[in-house]
Amino acid sequence: MRVLGIETSCDETGVAIYDDRAGLLAHAVYSQVEIHAEYGGVVPELASRDHVRKTLPLIRQVLEDAGLARASIDGVAFTAGPGLIGALLVGSALGRSLAWAWKVPAIGVHHMEGHLLAPLIETPAPEFPFVALLVSGGHTQLVDVIGIGRYRILGESLDDAAGEAFDKTAKILGLPYPGGPELARLAESGDPKRFRFPRPMTDRPGLDFSFSGLKTFTLNTLNKELAVSEDSQRTKADIARAFEEAVVDTLVIKCRRALRETGRRRLILAGGVSANRRLRERMDAAIAAEGGETYYPRPMFCTDNGAMIAFAGCQRLLAGQTEPLAFHPRARWPMGELPPV
Ligand code: KG4
Ligand code: ZN
Repeated sequence: MRVLGIETSCDETGVAIYDDRAGLLAHAVYSQVEIHAEYGGVVPELASRDHVRKTLPLIRQVLEDAGLARASIDGVAFTAGPGLIGALLVGSALGRSLAWAWKVPAIGVHHMEGHLLAPLIETPAPEFPFVALLVSGGHTQLVDVIGIGRYRILGESLDDAAGEAFDKTAKILGLPYPGGPELARLAESGDPKRFRFPRPMTDRPGLDFSFSGLKTFTLNTLNKELAVSEDSQRTKADIARAFEEAVVDTLVIKCRRALRETGRRRLILAGGVSANRRLRERMDAAIAAEGGETYYPRPMFCTDNGAMIAFAGCQRLLAGQTEPLAFHPRARWPMGELPPV
C-alpha cells in the first residue's frame, strides 16, 4: 500500500509517500521559520495561511520526485491533532478531499504517534515492545509501547515540555527563534563546569518531568552574572551549556528508570529535541551501560515531517482503520484514546 502523508500541525509543511513494501519513496518539508522569526514564535494564523499556500505544491513535488501518478496512491494520511487547530484544518481538509477525489481511504493521524513510530522507518527498526521518550515542543512523555496504538503513559511533563523549555530559555539568552537548535549551538562553546543547574524531580520516585523552573533559574543566573561579568557572550554560552546539561541529565535519569521499572531493553527517542547531539551521546552511553539499546529517527525525521505521518497512517490503513468523510481535527487529543492496531 502506498500512502501520501500530510503534516501541517504547526510551523512545518511536511509531505511524503510511504510504501509498505518499498519503504519511503519521497519526502519534502517546508519550514515556516522565516515567517515566524520576526515575531519570536509561531503565529497560528500566519501558519495556517502558509500551509494553504504550500501544501498542494509540495504534494505535486513529492509525487514528481517519486515518479508517481496520483492514481498510484492507495491512501491518504493527514495529521488530525494535536496541534494548532487552523493549521490542522488545512492539512485535514486537503487530505480528506484528495482521498475522496481519488476514491481511496483516508486516515487522520495523531501527531505524537507519528513521532513515536518515526524510528520504525529507519533500519534497523526497533522491535516491540519498547519504551519511548517523546520530546517535542509541545510534549514530553515517557510511554510504554506494546504495539501500535497500545500505549501506556509512564510519565509526562507537569508544566513546560522539554522543547518549550529550550525555546523559552533561548529567548531569555537573546537567541532567535527557533531557540532549541540555537541554544544547542551556543552550548557547544560553553564551559560545563562553571554553573550547575538543578535536575528537576530526579531526587524523588516517579517518571514525571518539570522543566519550567529551569528558565527561572536561567534568568536569575543571567541577571546575577551580567551584573559582574565582563564577557557576556562567554557567560551566555556557559549558561546555555549548564541548561542543556541539566535537561539532558534529567532525561537520561528518567529513561534509565523507565527501562528498569518496565523491564524493557529497547528505548526509542523521538520529537524535535531528540535531534539534540549531546542528548543522543549521553543517552546512548547510559543505556548501553545498562545492556539496553537506543533507537532514533534520522535528525530530519526527529522534527516535524510528512514521512512519520505517511508511515503511521499506512499502518492504520493496512489494519482497515479509516477516517469518515466528516473528519474531525482536534487541538487536544490524549494519545491513550487511540485504538490498537
Ligand atoms: O517535534 P517538533 O519539530 O515539533 C513539535 O511537535 O513540537 O519539535 C520542535 C521542538 C522545538 O521546541 C525545538 O526548539 C526543539 O524541538 N529542537 C531542539 C533541537 N532541534 C529542535 N531542541 C534542542 N536541541 C536541538 N538540536
Ligand atoms: Zn512534532
